[in-house]
This record gives sequence, structure tokens and C-alpha cells, in this order.
Amino acid sequence: MKTVKVSASSEYDVIVSCGILQSAGEYIEKALGGRPRLAVITDDIVDSLHGETLERALCGFDIVKFVFKNGEESKNINTYGEILEFLSENSITRADAIVAFGGGVTGDMAGFAASTFLRGIRFVQIPTTLLAMVDSSVGGKTAIDLRGGKNLCGTFWQPSLVLCDPLLLDTLPPEIFSDGMAEVIKYGVIRDCELFEKLLSVNVREDSEDVIAACVSIKRDIVNEDERDTGVRALLNFGHTAAHGIEKLSDYKISHGRAVGMGMMIAAKGAERLGICSPEVSEQIKKALEKYSLTPNCPFDAVGLCDCALSDKKRAGDSITLVLPEKVGNAVLYKINIESLSKFFAEGLE
Ligand SMILES: NC(=O)c1ccc[n+]([C@@H]2O[C@H](COP(=O)([O-])OP(=O)(O)OC[C@H]3O[C@@H](n4cnc5c(N)ncnc54)[C@H](O)[C@@H]3O)[C@@H](O)[C@H]2O)c1
Repeated sequence: MKTVKVSASSEYDVIVSCGILQSAGEYIEKALGGRPRLAVITDDIVDSLHGETLERALCGFDIVKFVFKNGEESKNINTYGEILEFLSENSITRADAIVAFGGGVTGDMAGFAASTFLRGIRFVQIPTTLLAMVDSSVGGKTAIDLRGGKNLCGTFWQPSLVLCDPLLLDTLPPEIFSDGMAEVIKYGVIRDCELFEKLLSVNVREDSEDVIAACVSIKRDIVNEDERDTGVRALLNFGHTAAHGIEKLSDYKISHGRAVGMGMMIAAKGAERLGICSPEVSEQIKKALEKYSLTPNCPFDAVGLCDCALSDKKRAGDSITLVLPEKVGNAVLYKINIESLSKFFAEGLE
């Protein structure tokens, strides 16, 4: 068992342990100081695979459950509205809590509901995808998508507890596991050379507790420093500037994780051309991506990627901040003029 303590605007533990789902009730009771009513929010796939185990683990709690159709398409204002109505119809009060049980979609949407219902109630994250364990369940960003783009409406709202049970990953389809691996590789490149080397030398599925805890610790350190995403938290966007464009240009047929993998390659090769890192960095990233069934090569051109990046919400005036690796284990923020962005992408795609 590994416990990572987060001290953001509130303090909470992220506990990573195989089989911890079975004891969720015990940990939730400790973190919430008693047995409040719990509103479990989950999607249909997670509910069918693991819902009963969670219900057994929460025996002794009064629980109500809201199940929505799995997938990003559900992360919208309609499902969010249904969740709020559900909480209200079930007389959830400020003394009660939400349990987000699922991947990043569930966590983001349930967290957003928790932050806005009755002006904010407590919530617990039980992530069930690798991405949600290493990334979205920690750090307090909640969101829903709008027609204009992903995550355009949200809040910062920290959970009271995060329980990661790596055994839940056994039912995850391989391609969704690979998507999560893109974020794991990202952590290695931006902050932890040892973690990166481990990814190349071991099978992550067999060492998942340590790897997840290492990623959570990196995210914790960055979030502790910059909870509201005005500075160093941007490092977590390594690979994401191009990735958002890749997802959009593919009409979201290329998943986020796959796009992040391609985006990291573009950033590393672009950084190489700017003299910021050696060619070894992109070679190492390529090796890691291929090991975890992620494609390094982007099918789109620099013009398309540039147009998307310039319409992205992260653009600030005439410049855009890129995250570039200096070496494996260290990345830096690099401001680039928007006129130079197309050249950067073109060189990154070579
Ligand atoms: N808040 C943040 O900081 C943050 C960070 C990164 C990503 N995100 C968000 O996370 C979302 C993506 O998360 P995701 O990839 O987990 O997507 P997801 O929640 O849609 O899960 C992917 C699929 O896996 C299924 N699934 C989940 N757990 C399973 C399990 N144990 N076994 C079998 N199937 C399972 C789900 O039903 C779904 O079909 C995006 O909306 C993204 O914007 C948020």
C-alpha cells in the first residue's frame, strides 16, 4: 500500500493499494468522519463490472446510485443537470457526499456536480482507469464539455479522499490501458528519469502500485505548487498542445492518450531543432510509446495543428507556452511567438 498526501487548498490522501476497493467503506468512513449518505455516480460499464463489489464494500452506508451511459459524449450539461436533479430528488444534503466511481469522465462530471450542488459538498474519487488513477482523480480540476470544446465549464474542487485499486485495471480494454500509459510516460519525461527507465524495463501491469504512486506524487508536487494552474502546472500539458489539435482533426477518432503520445514526439523533436534537447529524447519517447502500443507518428500536417492550437483556450495573446523536454526527467515552459508555431510543428513532424 502507498499513501500520497496532497496539501492543496484542502488536505487529502491518495491511497494506492491492490484490493482496496473491498475496504472502501472503512477508508471513506475515516476520511469523512462517520457514515454520511453517499451518492455513487458511475457509468454503465463500470457499474456492470464492479458495482456490486463497491456496494458490498459500502455495506452499512445509506447509498443512492446514479448510472449514466459511458463515454465522453455523456460529459455534458444534460447529464450534469440530471445528476443535480438526482441529488436533489434523493435529498442529498451538505452533510452527505458523492462517490465518483469510474474513469476521468465520471470523476470530472461527479466532481463538478459536487462542487456546485448546494454550493459544494464533499466527494470521494474511486478511479477505475489508469488515466483517472494517475491524472484526473488528483488535483481538483472538475469539468464538463460544451459544444464549443472539451472541459470549457468547470471548477477547482478537491476530493476528500482518492482510492486507487490497480486490480480494477484487469478489466480495462488494452487500448484504454495504453491511453493511460501516455500520461504515465509524460510524468517520466517531465519529472522522473528513474520512472521513465522503469517503464522501459518492467511490465507496468506487474508493478502498477509503485508506478501509479510515483505518478500521483509528481502530480501532487506540481499541484501543491500551483493548484490554480497559473504557472508550473502547465508542465502537465507536455504533449497536449499538439494532442488537442490531433484529437480535433481526427474528429475525436484518435483517443486523447494516443494523441498525447504523438504530441510528445512532436514536442521532443521540435525541442531538438530548437537546440533544447538531444535526439536521444525523442528516440527514448518513441521506444516507450511503442512498448505500450502507442503510435509515435502524427497523421496531420503543421498547418492543421497550428490552426487548432491557436483556437485553443490556453493561448495568451501573441504567444503560446509550450512544454519542452531538456532531457528525460526534466521539462521546461517555453514561450513561443504564434508566428513561429507553424515552423515548430513542421520541424516536430519531420
Ligand atoms: N480533471 C483532470 O485533471 C483531467 C486530467 C486528464 C483527463 N481528464 C478527463 O478524463 C476523461 C478521460 O478519462 P478516461 O480515459 O478514464 O475516460 P472514461 O471515463 O470515458 O473511461 C474510458 C472507458 O473505460 C471504461 N472503464 C472505466 N473503468 C473501467 C474498468 N475498470 N474496466 C473496464 N472498463 C472501464 C469506461 O466505461 C469508458 O467506456 C476526459 O474527459 C478528460 O477530459 C481530466
